[in-house]
Amino acid sequence: MYIVTRRYGFAASHRLHVPSLGEEENQQLYGKCNNPYGHGHNYVVDVSARGPADPRTGRAVDVAVLDDLVRREVVAPFDHSNLNTQVDAFRDVVPTSENLAVEICRRLRAGWSAAFPGEWPKLYKIRIAETDRNIFEIKADEIE
Ligand code: NI
Repeated sequence: MYIVTRRYGFAASHRLHVPSLGEEENQQLYGKCNNPYGHGHNYVVDVSARGPADPRTGRAVDVAVLDDLVRREVVAPFDHSNLNTQVDAFRDVVPTSENLAVEICRRLRAGWSAAFPGEWPKLYKIRIAETDRNIFEIKADEIE
């Protein structure tokens, strides 16, 4: 089995704010990240897929197919967006990188079987670097 990882990027802004909590509590929880005008990140997203090498091609993942899927489902809708207001999933869910990883995973999973109709590869892991020092990972089989 191989794990193949491909790196993508997009720029987006967000504000960490939970409407059901008061202004003061949000400020305490999120500090600068609660700034009402938001702030941006250059997100780096590593998408990992897992599978055996195809005996015909010697490859575990057709990266061109993966690129099409990730660009369509993630990069195009998220790049230069405000995650809070322009991505439906974050209307009522705070757009932390943890939640962003889950949303990316769900989007890729929704399009996965059309892109990769065979048994392999499977979506394995999403890793998001929000900054050089803030890195978040989730395994695809651990989310709903
Ligand atoms: Ni932020």
